[in-house]
Amino acid sequence: MTTSRRRYHITTFGCQMNKADSERMAGILENMGFQWSEDPNNASLILYNTCTIRDNAEQKVYSYLGRQAKRKQEEPDLTLIVAGCVAQQEGEALLRRVPELDLVMGPQYANRLEDLLEQVFNGNQVVATEPIQIVEDITKPRRDSTVSAWVNVIYGCNERCTYCVVPNVRGIEQSRTPEAIRAEMAELGHQGYKEVTLLGQNIDAYGRDLPGVTESGRHQHTLTDLLYYVHDVPGIERIRFATSHPRYFTERLIRACKELPKVCEHFHIPFQSGDNDILKAMARGYSQEKYRRIIDTIRNYMPDASISADAIVGFPGETEAQFENTLKLVEDIGFDQLNTAAYSPRPGTPAALWDNQISEEVKSDRLQRLNHLVATKAAARSERYLHRIEEVLVEDQNPKDSTQVMGRTRGNRLTFFKGNINQLKGQLVKVKISEIRAFSLTGESVI
Ligand code: SAH
Ligand code: SF4
Ligand code: F3S
Repeated sequence: MTTSRRRYHITTFGCQMNKADSERMAGILENMGFQWSEDPNNASLILYNTCTIRDNAEQKVYSYLGRQAKRKQEEPDLTLIVAGCVAQQEGEALLRRVPELDLVMGPQYANRLEDLLEQVFNGNQVVATEPIQIVEDITKPRRDSTVSAWVNVIYGCNERCTYCVVPNVRGIEQSRTPEAIRAEMAELGHQGYKEVTLLGQNIDAYGRDLPGVTESGRHQHTLTDLLYYVHDVPGIERIRFATSHPRYFTERLIRACKELPKVCEHFHIPFQSGDNDILKAMARGYSQEKYRRIIDTIRNYMPDASISADAIVGFPGETEAQFENTLKLVEDIGFDQLNTAAYSPRPGTPAALWDNQISEEVKSDRLQRLNHLVATKAAARSERYLHRIEEVLVEDQNPKDSTQVMGRTRGNRLTFFKGNINQLKGQLVKVKISEIRAFSLTGESVI
């Protein structure tokens, strides 16, 4: 027991927001004197940072939790925490399901972990899911990478896509101030980080909730303004941002990306479906024609920009013909990468209640067909890299070949080449591409 004293373990499920939250919560725990333990069984505090975007994501956490709840019956000093989106969705119901839990905390409470733990250590079982203002982080996050970092710019989402739990679990949009964002980036640059990804569920909404409008009636703080404002932070060589929403995507933003050398030519703009009636039922607020126009405009400014997206198959009522419109969009646009998923009905969302649900067989058949097309198109997109010289930011050793290092091109393609990680970590290296695969590249460094 004493050997496992004050060691903590975090398992993170879900998206980049959750990963960023986990890094901040880890920072808070280390500040409180806890030490990281890779093995949860050696930890006296275990935190599951959870995701509920689809049912299978949610179910995963229950099986992890079951094991540790059992362990707690023998080790009553074990502190068990469920944070993140399942915590927010289930709240008190989680305590009834797993009475061994000490703390259930929604994503808005990540920065308040220390206060919540104080209540726990005073003997309380705590549920923190009331909507609150997200406080600025004062402790240093414990980041996984020393090269590339996430920086939240806006929390929450005010959209109401009919399939999606995110607005329910992440709450309303809350933008951080440009000053706070720049200060975090400056600190990162100072620590030697080279790349920053600005994060928001709907990053185009950045600034809408901050005070100030321009003379023309535009919000003073937009994502585009933010990019100009943070662009010259010393040390930071690359800036990325995600996730873009087609409804709010502007040409001004595209121009800024072209103009600002540090902003990478990579756009992640989920389209969800290539069919206008399905898009309408999803309440996405754009048509497939508008989506195509956005991509055309990007390619007009930057012909080589990489484009990635998310798509859902088997949304309630989706016919074979409507699904084929999604295939057609994917065929025409040629994404560099596409995250695909079968529709999963989520509690508290409108579409889950509709009576035109699609069978699991049809969903998985469509998913397979779409994935096959995605891989074919991605392989074709990779071809443009062959024999070209790409700039790669080295992040790590290749886990499968210690003579190689790996990193990403500006377009976000994973790239391997021969080299020593101790010399190259964090360096921007020119790499001549000699081998291509659908989602990764191999090359040689050139001097
Ligand atoms: N804010 C982003 C994405 C958030 S969730 C956006 O607006 O695009 C990440 C992805 O999960 C979504 O893009 C969508 O493709 C998928 N997703 C969300 N809810 C889902 C559901 N109920 N079933 C299947 N996939 C879902
Ligand atoms: Fe979900 Fe839509 Fe918000 Fe994205 S924009 S997080 S899909 S509600
Ligand atoms: Fe999952 Fe929550 Fe992200 S539901 S996808 S972890 S916002």
